[in-house]
Order: sequence, then structure tokens, then C-alpha cells
Amino acid sequence: MDLDTLRRTLLQRLESDRRFGLTHLPKPQGAFDLSFLRDVGEGLESDEAGAAVSVAARNVAIAPQPVATPSSAGLFDLPAAVVPVGENIAPPNTERSEASRADRVSTLKVLSERVAGCVRCGELAATRTQTVFGVGNPEAAIFFLGEAPGADEDRIGEPFVGRAGQLLDKIIGACRLTRDDIYIGNILKCRPPGNRNPAPIEAANCREYLSAQIATVDPDYIVCWGRVAAENLLGTKEAIGKLRKRFFTYGRAKVAVTYHPSYLLRNPPAKKDVWDDMKWLFRDMGVDLDAGRKGEAGDRERG
Ligand code: URA
Repeated sequence: MDLDTLRRTLLQRLESDRRFGLTHLPKPQGAFDLSFLRDVGEGLESDEAGAAVSVAARNVAIAPQPVATPSSAGLFDLPAAVVPVGENIAPPNTERSEASRADRVSTLKVLSERVAGCVRCGELAATRTQTVFGVGNPEAAIFFLGEAPGADEDRIGEPFVGRAGQLLDKIIGACRLTRDDIYIGNILKCRPPGNRNPAPIEAANCREYLSAQIATVDPDYIVCWGRVAAENLLGTKEAIGKLRKRFFTYGRAKVAVTYHPSYLLRNPPAKKDVWDDMKWLFRDMGVDLDAGRKGEAGDRERG
């Protein structure tokens, strides 16, 4: 494309965005122990062993950006580009991925760069400091799925780094894992202002990224932390209390649901329930968290 055509194309795109109600461009992305149970009266022996888990892989084709559709309203009411549900969404893996670690790293990088430039949700794009894509082991057997970044995550660019994240870290440690053993992501990659709940349209806009992220990591297990994660991944409106200790499926991955760490901060007695859920989950992996190490580290060898 010559310079003149490029210039015209860009101007047309900006004009079209303006007509659809785009009023802001996002801020540029920067370079880019059972002690948690203490207040419910239980203790956890720490153990350096990792818990047994497995991994998987598949190359994920990154779909093209969806075409923008007009928004009916103006400022901050512009999920300007609505992704039709089901379009560009990587289907859940039904077979174990064969993708190498390097391939996964590069797929996730491309995805995170796309997310960094995403302006599908006008309000979120205009108010975020940066997008929060996800962190962890690209070959993790366990994918922890949260809701959306909060203020600390928006500032730092990593999921679960605030108070809820510190509690999650303790839970991860109690399971004898580290953040590097698992993968952590959210339903939304941008902070909803005031930490409001994600709007359904925002979750739909972000679904393409989440689906590709899960398909790339290809975990054996997904843990939905809280109602928003469960509702959006599984399409259920049931209360967490009714979803606990039941395996759902997302492709070949087993999905477990438990309380969100933020809820635990408000309601410490529920930590006991979450610990029960972790023990139940890990038992399914062949790991008895009560009895100490029985398996290998989180990033298990492929094969
Ligand atoms: N709560 C979430 O659900 N995700 C985060 O990243 C932080 C807090």
C-alpha cells in the first residue's frame, strides 16, 4: 500500500470510528501456606513439593479482528465493536494440544498485543491504564480464571496483585504451587471503572481473547473464581454454593467453581470451603493435599 492510500485508509477508519461514537483512544500500553486459613482456625504445613498436574497443547489460529458494528449511543455507551457471540471464538480444545512451549509463548504474545490495542469496549478502553492479559505457565495444567482487573491490576498490568491476589497467592502456596506453575487470567482484560461487574457485552467482546488464551494454554483444569467467571465460562446463573464440588467441562478441560478471593476477604469463614474445594480438586489430580506430596510439579513434562 502506498503512503497516500495508507493515509486515506487511516482517515476513513478514524472517521468511521468517530461516527460509531468513539470519543477516546486508549492510553498507550506501557513497555509492556494454609496461613490463609488462619482466621478460620486451621493450619497448613508448607511443603516445597509441587502438586501433580498435566499439560497439553495445540496451535491456535488467531482469528482476525471482528468488524465493528455501530453503537446506538454516545459517550461511554459504546461497546463500539460488538463481537457477535460465536464469531472468531476459538472452540474449546477437544484434544490435547501438541504445540511447543515456544509456540504457545509466541501465540500468547500476539494475543496480548492485540488485547493491548483493543477498543471494543469504549468506556473500558478510555479509562484503563493498561490491559491485563494474563500471566503464568503457558503449558500450565491449571488455569485460574478470575473476573476482571481491579485498581492494582490496572496499575501493574498483572492479574490478582491486589489484596484478593495476595490471598490467592496464599491459596496457591497452600496447594504447594507457585504462580509460575499455573496460568492466571480474567474474563475481562480491562478494569471496569469503580470495579463494577463486567457488562455482558464487555464479556462478549473479550471472549475471543479468553477462548484463544485457554485454547493456547490448553489446561487440564480450569478453576472459576467467583460467580462472574463461572457465569461467563459455563453460561450458568446458579449460585456458587450449588456449583462447588462438581466438575463441568470446557472442551477437554475439567472446570471447577469456587468462591472468589474478594468474597473470602469479606467472609473469612468461607476460606474453609475454598480449601475443601482445593483438596477435592487436587484429589482428582491424584494429589492429597492433606497427606503431603504425591505428585510432580505443576509444569509436568509433556508426553
Ligand atoms: N479480581 C479478579 O477477578 N481478577 C483480578 O485480576 C483481580 C481481582
